[in-house]
Amino acid sequence: MSAPAAASMPLDDAVPAPGALLSVRDLRTVFPTRRGIVQAVDGVDLDVMPGEALGVVGESGSGKSVTFLSVLGLIRPPGTVTAETLRFEGFDLMRLSATERRRLRGRAMALTMQDALSALNPAFTVGTQIMEGLLTHGIVANARAAREEAVALMGRVGIPSAAARVDEYPHQFSGGMRQRIMIAIALAARPRLLIADEPTTALDVTIRAQVLDLIDDLRQSEGMALVLITHDLGVVAERTERLAVMYAGQIVETGPTAAVLAAPRHPYTRGLLASLPRLDAPDSPIQAIPGQVPDLTRLPPGCRFRERCPLAVAACAEPVLLAPVGPDRAARCIRTEALAS
Ligand SMILES: Nc1ncnc2c1ncn2[C@@H]1O[C@H](COP(=O)(O)OP(=O)(O)OP(=O)(O)O)[C@@H](O)[C@H]1O
Ligand code: SF4
Ligand SMILES: [Mg+2]
Repeated sequence: MSAPAAASMPLDDAVPAPGALLSVRDLRTVFPTRRGIVQAVDGVDLDVMPGEALGVVGESGSGKSVTFLSVLGLIRPPGTVTAETLRFEGFDLMRLSATERRRLRGRAMALTMQDALSALNPAFTVGTQIMEGLLTHGIVANARAAREEAVALMGRVGIPSAAARVDEYPHQFSGGMRQRIMIAIALAARPRLLIADEPTTALDVTIRAQVLDLIDDLRQSEGMALVLITHDLGVVAERTERLAVMYAGQIVETGPTAAVLAAPRHPYTRGLLASLPRLDAPDSPIQAIPGQVPDLTRLPPGCRFRERCPLAVAACAEPVLLAPVGPDRAARCIRTEALAS
């Protein structure tokens, strides 16, 4: 088997990596607002290979959710998405009709939302919402089988007394339970790629591990690929093979997860790691990254991290490209050698 291509290499030729499940080149998403044009995603390139797990991290507002909502065709006007390449299993997503894209979305690229309450339909029971995916995608033959499978899925995501609760409505569940129901809905369609956006935020530690184990099981048994968007670098370290670090709408570092976390090659990644409590040294000081993320309506032409970067020099005011920094690794920084110890 050939080694998977890096999550986001600087690709001059815009050719999707051979065999990639999802290929994205030069994705840009903008929102016109009263304050100006928000450049939420600005030139993202990435590939997801079949069966692999890609972690996506970055501070709040860095564009993680908007990147994947854009891939899924879920950005509403006046938001605008453009891309040089947006391919899923060979389909050019930019050319599909809304109906074709909707069909592909459930079956191929299910999404668990950050905010499960607003994503679930309050008017239908959770069972109905899980069954819909099973029936629409022809995974079961009839409503009775769909109901049985819905109960089984609820059990698998850790909802106690699933058979008794299948006819309840979303508001009758706690936040953590609703998140698990979202995951059951996403998994019902047997997706080939699961895009999980903060899937475990509201869950306690035990249930979080259960849900992530369930996702891992499905990766093993069905060859499902995973994009795991999270603030939790511990979860990323345990559950993903490759990592993309986002800052102000761009990928600033990418590479094998273990290598990036062990020796980051971008000052922002290093800052993110330093801002975490360390399990191996709980008394070591936590250093939040000083300063603020730049205003996305007034982005500076040079490195977007410049105002906060301890290594900044005058040349950082010029545009900085994502450039290779080692095997399957890339960073958007002109001083990566200063971090290469
Ligand atoms: N509909 C919209 N209109 C205007 N700006 C938007 C819209 N949706 C998102 N944004 C802006 O796009 C930027 C990226 O948002 P996004 O939700 O992708 O961040 P995120 O990295 O997922 O953050 P978090 O970790 O908090 O979920 C933010 O500045 C956000 O305010
Ligand atoms: S390009 Fe310059 S400002 Fe940007 S991260 Fe690297 S050293 Fe810091
Ligand atoms: Mg988000």
